Amino acid sequence: MDVETVTERAGPREFSPKDDMPEEYRKAATRMIQFHANSEIMGAYLERPFIRQAPSLDRKLAFSAKVQDEIGHGQLLYRAAESLGIKTREEMLRELEEGKGKFLNCFHYPMDSYVETPMIAFFVDGAAMRRQATLKSTSWEPYAHAMDKVCFEEGFHVKHGEDILRELMTGSRKEQEMTQEAFDEWWPRIIQFFGPTDEQSTHHGFAAEVGLKQMSNDQLRNAFLNAYIPKARKYGLEIPDYPRIEKRDDGTYEVREDDLDWDEFFKIAKNDYEPGVGQIDGRKAAQDAVEWVRDVLDDYEQTARGQPAAAD
Ligand SMILES: [Fe+2]
Ligand SMILES: [Fe+2]
Repeated sequence: MDVETVTERAGPREFSPKDDMPEEYRKAATRMIQFHANSEIMGAYLERPFIRQAPSLDRKLAFSAKVQDEIGHGQLLYRAAESLGIKTREEMLRELEEGKGKFLNCFHYPMDSYVETPMIAFFVDGAAMRRQATLKSTSWEPYAHAMDKVCFEEGFHVKHGEDILRELMTGSRKEQEMTQEAFDEWWPRIIQFFGPTDEQSTHHGFAAEVGLKQMSNDQLRNAFLNAYIPKARKYGLEIPDYPRIEKRDDGTYEVREDDLDWDEFFKIAKNDYEPGVGQIDGRKAAQDAVEWVRDVLDDYEQTARGQPAAAD
């Protein structure tokens, strides 16, 4: 199939591995899904310490379940990316380990305190939900199919994050102040989650034409702000003065791009931001630590010839 035909036919869940897709499409879809899969894994590593650090057994259990969900999302997505025939799951995991795999800006920042956890679980997962809901109708069927399960579980994650936020913002004055401080710090990063405005976005054009992306950065950011500014205020959070955000007459928002640190953003995009490098190294250490499990599974697979592998 040539790109012209793909563009003409592009629609929700239109293409699958039985179609002969052009390389340009397969590469664009791989880049998008691999980025998504990497982000699931790196997000899970950021939250993992809170399985221990959360203040009650219920919260620990919830973090444990959430981290497992996120790792599962990563696995589903590597499989969906693999089905494009460009890279194997092992190659993508290797790239992540070596610091070549790209992932979401928010997951390059360390998360040190429990009061920061709703910044990820409520706001970042809420932002991710916006994007992922549209991906249920992406043109690569295995990706859309993975989104059915991912979105179902993300709904729980957002509720879990919202409940922690509610608890903190109805807690002691100190808890409220600390949560507001965390929000002030994370808010600009969350706005940058959606990337630069459409004029500056490099990959949107082709991905939209072939039906991989359904909404632009600007549309998604607007939908998020419309939903989450009122939610933040409902729990008593004050929206920071910067970046300046103005509501237009048509109900959409204008974010002053110059108020955001794009140098930092693009440094992150290249995996060059120092704290993010720490996250990547942490991921590599975790990967190395379980290398023996992979070896055992490989051995098992070879000895149990013809039997399905345990890892699948
Ligand atoms: Fe997820
Ligand atoms: Fe999540």
